[in-house]
Amino acid sequence: MTGGAAAIPEVQALLRVLAIGRDVAELGAAYGETAALVAQTARSVVTVERDPERVAVARERLRGLANVELLEGDAYEQLSGRGPFGLVFADGARPYDWEAILALTEPGGLVVKDDLTPGRPAAGDDVREFLLGDPRLVAAEILATPEMAVIVAVRR
Ligand SMILES: C[S@@+](CC[C@H](N)C(=O)[O-])C[C@H]1O[C@@H](n2cnc3c(N)ncnc32)[C@H](O)[C@@H]1O
Repeated sequence: MTGGAAAIPEVQALLRVLAIGRDVAELGAAYGETAALVAQTARSVVTVERDPERVAVARERLRGLANVELLEGDAYEQLSGRGPFGLVFADGARPYDWEAILALTEPGGLVVKDDLTPGRPAAGDDVREFLLGDPRLVAAEILATPEMAVIVAVRR
């Protein structure tokens, strides 16, 4: 039921580590798989999904998790004015509104973006140009697997 609609286990493990004690926002909940895992270590998780059928599945999965809030609708609209968050996981909501995502992120907070093809240049790649190039961020691109890179960026 959830094939292809959740972060891979390596990214989920990374997020659980990075989320410890933080208030987390997730853009794109899908079926709530990653939100449920991250909630094990985060202080709180707010996750947003615009597909009603996915929201229904996520609601069942996340029911009873006291530190998780599931919102239905567009992530930018739903999260506008919320936060700031200690970790923002950008996993949907393309094209990414990086200024909005940065506004959601507290100083010292993390922005995580997965699903990147390793070895690509930053030039011409809007995700890498922003996360690796914006002077308000310090970022590293790491391999989650040989086939997938992840960027972890810290807001100064
Ligand atoms: C890769 S899936 C998310 C997987 C989830 N983060 C996980 O790891 O379990 C991306 C999701 O983003 C949702 N999405 C796309 N654009 C969105 C938007 N503007 N606001 C909210 N959700 C959006 C899609 O419907 C899809 O379910």
